[in-house]
Amino acid sequence: MRLFFAAFPDGDTRRLIASAAAALVLGDGARLVPCENYHITLAFVGEVSNPQAASLRAIGPLDAPAFTVRFDTYEHWLKSEVVVLAASECPPALHDLHCKLYGELAHHDLASDPRPFHPHVTIARKTAQAPVQQAMSGFLWTVTAVHLVRSVRSSAGSTYTVLDRWSLLDKPARGE
Ligand code: 2AM
Repeated sequence: MRLFFAAFPDGDTRRLIASAAAALVLGDGARLVPCENYHITLAFVGEVSNPQAASLRAIGPLDAPAFTVRFDTYEHWLKSEVVVLAASECPPALHDLHCKLYGELAHHDLASDPRPFHPHVTIARKTAQAPVQQAMSGFLWTVTAVHLVRSVRSSAGSTYTVLDRWSLLDKPARGE
């Protein structure tokens, strides 16, 4: 089965992502990602066996803090033909969480990550042409949990099933 670690938005954040997606004017053939599929990929796992999946489900609790990330720009990735919402700055807690998850993968002999980590939310696919877009007013997304997710792909798109969820630790109050 194909797995990845992800953060899913709460209802308010999902609405902010949807309105940023709705502001795009996409070319022919492009497809908006369904709202229920919005996520940040925190670490990509890929194909694993049932025993490997079971050992990944045992990695929690993660002992990592919640964090807030600001999404502030659209990017069109020509090679993969997607439009994403991206964060110009990666908060240290997000970078640390990404490294921690890859550490767990290495520990299970599963690590392979050729891509540098660039936090993003894919909002449209099959975008051969760059979209016409409005300036994006950024928004904040507070990530409070990590999900282990199974992805099943078909011609109709991807279906995600959450296999496990771990809460992140409360953020320290401002000034602490
Ligand atoms: P995305 O996060 O850019 O949308 C499930 O397949 C998720 O894992 C998708 O959201 C996808 O991209 C991401 N993904 C797929 N293949 C990947 C890879 N080789 N490295 C990192 N992330 C990948």
